[in-house]
Amino acid sequence: MLYIGVDLGTSAVKLLLMDSEGRILNIVSREYPLYFPHPGWSEQNPRDWWEQTAAGISELLQGADRSLVAGISFGGQMHGLVILDERDEVIRPAILWNDGRTHEENDYLNHVIGREKLSAYTANISFAGFTAPKLLWVKNKEPENFARIRRIMLPKDYIAYKLTGVHCTDVSDASGMLLFDVKNRCWSKEMCDICGVSVEQLAKCYESSQKVGTVLPDVAARLGIPENVAVAAGAGDNAAAAVGTGTVGDNMCNISLGTSGTIFISSGRFGVDRFNALHSFAHADGHYHLMGCMLSAASCNKWWMEEILRAKEYNREQQDIRVERLGENHVYFLPYLMGERSPHNDPDARGVFLGMTMDTTRADMTQAVLEGVAFGLRDSLEVARSLGIRLERTRICGGGAKSPLWRKIIANILNLKVDVIESEEGPALGGAMLAAVACGEYPSVEAAAAAIVKIIDTVEPDPVLVARYDACYEKFKKLYPACKPVFEAMLTQEG
Ligand code: XUL
Repeated sequence: MLYIGVDLGTSAVKLLLMDSEGRILNIVSREYPLYFPHPGWSEQNPRDWWEQTAAGISELLQGADRSLVAGISFGGQMHGLVILDERDEVIRPAILWNDGRTHEENDYLNHVIGREKLSAYTANISFAGFTAPKLLWVKNKEPENFARIRRIMLPKDYIAYKLTGVHCTDVSDASGMLLFDVKNRCWSKEMCDICGVSVEQLAKCYESSQKVGTVLPDVAARLGIPENVAVAAGAGDNAAAAVGTGTVGDNMCNISLGTSGTIFISSGRFGVDRFNALHSFAHADGHYHLMGCMLSAASCNKWWMEEILRAKEYNREQQDIRVERLGENHVYFLPYLMGERSPHNDPDARGVFLGMTMDTTRADMTQAVLEGVAFGLRDSLEVARSLGIRLERTRICGGGAKSPLWRKIIANILNLKVDVIESEEGPALGGAMLAAVACGEYPSVEAAAAAIVKIIDTVEPDPVLVARYDACYEKFKKLYPACKPVFEAMLTQEG
């Protein structure tokens, strides 16, 4: 049989075709626009997601035996607010995970309702990109839109809805809404009351590998697939990426270097970080996980390469970074181009280069960008370490994971062995694996991961580099607190 994994990302949707043995037969990618209507805001049009996904599925299946397609599932960008009216029309553009407009609502939730209550109801505190503060923003700033809301959904769930007509979500993605009781894997009535919404407006919540329905006949005809194709709930892209890299069960780690950068630690038991700096979410394997999320990761390098250097050859640019310069760079970069989530929870933070002198080279600056992202990941890893979590190794996926130099920098800055997976297509592969589990191809998500995921290389940290980077990290750690008052002053100017 054949399974389709849909990775509904921020810059593009990626579609992956997998057979019963987990072999990847085809991958296609289709882009859509991302809008920044105001500094720090980030929006997309859900109809663009659907049009590109539908066209992408048809393209993916060219040359394949379409009658063998048995299941579809997803990894989707998390936290985005999609709202539909009575007639199932999208009310306004989706407000995305990296949108920082919800200052007031975020402060209200964390300080008026209070972090203790939020943590008791949902296992998390509020971050600007989470869904609940965005709902409050629509309620406060666009009351006429708020009054029209019939259905509230997350980005990938809009695609499931278009495919099946079923209003559904899954536990991992629901966890990022701040409306979900993560420990008990159900909606929080208290949070619904706080946000002024009803449980009926929210979707029915499934485990990630559960079947939610089958593709509607007219949609199946349009896509050229059988009508009985099963659709499984899927997962938030980080949980799906964890499935796709085999980060399931207890105390495994995955780093995703996509538009966002995440460090994802799977856990057999429910647990909350006592500082609430890491997210405590349900995992797609039926258990739980902790996660730190940077809002800009590979996107920092893309911005540096394409907007600033006007260069396209990423490998070529990185070839100028000499190995002897690792751990010796005087230039530092704070990667907060969209503000920062973990661990600072500061939508007003901004990108910074610091430490240049007249002999600083283009290569030093490029290196600083790669290192700044790795230091940002280490910030979250340090929170996990302070909770007593001991990790020796991590897996890695996402576009940035293709760079051997970046993998080496990460291994040494985080002092972790970095296991490279045969395919770095984490969320799309994870989505296809969830579909295969839903169709009974594998008895569980963990069984699918054990059968399908293969490690092809390991990057070992080098003790000399680790020591050098430890010294650099001590300096990096001082930069955000030093810049914070300046970020605040800049915000007053931005108005
Ligand atoms: C996770 C997060 C991002 C998005 C990226 O909390 O906000 O990783 O899911 O698509």
